[in-house]
Amino acid sequence: MPELRVAVIASHNGSNLRALHQASLVANARFCIVLVISNNSDSGALRYARDNRIPARHLSGCTHDDPDEAIRAALVEHAVDLVVTAGYLKKIGPRTRSEFAARIINVHPALLPRHGGPGMYGRHVHQAVLESGDLVSGVSVHHVSGEYDAGQVIAQVEVPVRSGDTAETLGARVLEAEHTLLPDVVRQIAHDSTARPAIRAHP
Ligand code: GRF
Repeated sequence: MPELRVAVIASHNGSNLRALHQASLVANARFCIVLVISNNSDSGALRYARDNRIPARHLSGCTHDDPDEAIRAALVEHAVDLVVTAGYLKKIGPRTRSEFAARIINVHPALLPRHGGPGMYGRHVHQAVLESGDLVSGVSVHHVSGEYDAGQVIAQVEVPVRSGDTAETLGARVLEAEHTLLPDVVRQIAHDSTARPAIRAHP
């Protein structure tokens, strides 16, 4: 089986990109990061990509009249099999979703369907968890649909909420769990000969 060609779309730090890229370098990973896209020219994700010689593009409403079409075209040009959004603060547009139907996944720092949807990103998520009194938070990897955080969940892992947690301490513990779960899911997709035909569009 050829390697699964993965693109990562991110807006900020890019720590999930780094975790995924490092996992891709392990023997028999069966996936490789072929493209990084960011809407933020100053993002850590673009810097990481350039430092590691991964093809990178800055595509946003500032650089393109139609960022959805620009993203779709870049993904097609790089023969991408699987798109991973990790800390991407924009919605994936309808053209990209239709071209890559069922092949776009996102990592969310909570146990969906709890604490997802518009405005639920970054520390807002962890603050909402603490205010809800939930004793457990976690990570969800899910398919991307037209609504924020609403697509089918693929995998989740729980992370305990500890007494005295702040949004920052909880967020740091959850982020660490993201760095394991996301590569695990991508590795599983790359190895699963039954899942792959459904997820792969390229012969
Ligand atoms: C992660 O918590 C991710 O779940 C969320 O945004 C954060 C991105 O972190 N959607 P990073 O840019 O990968 O470090």
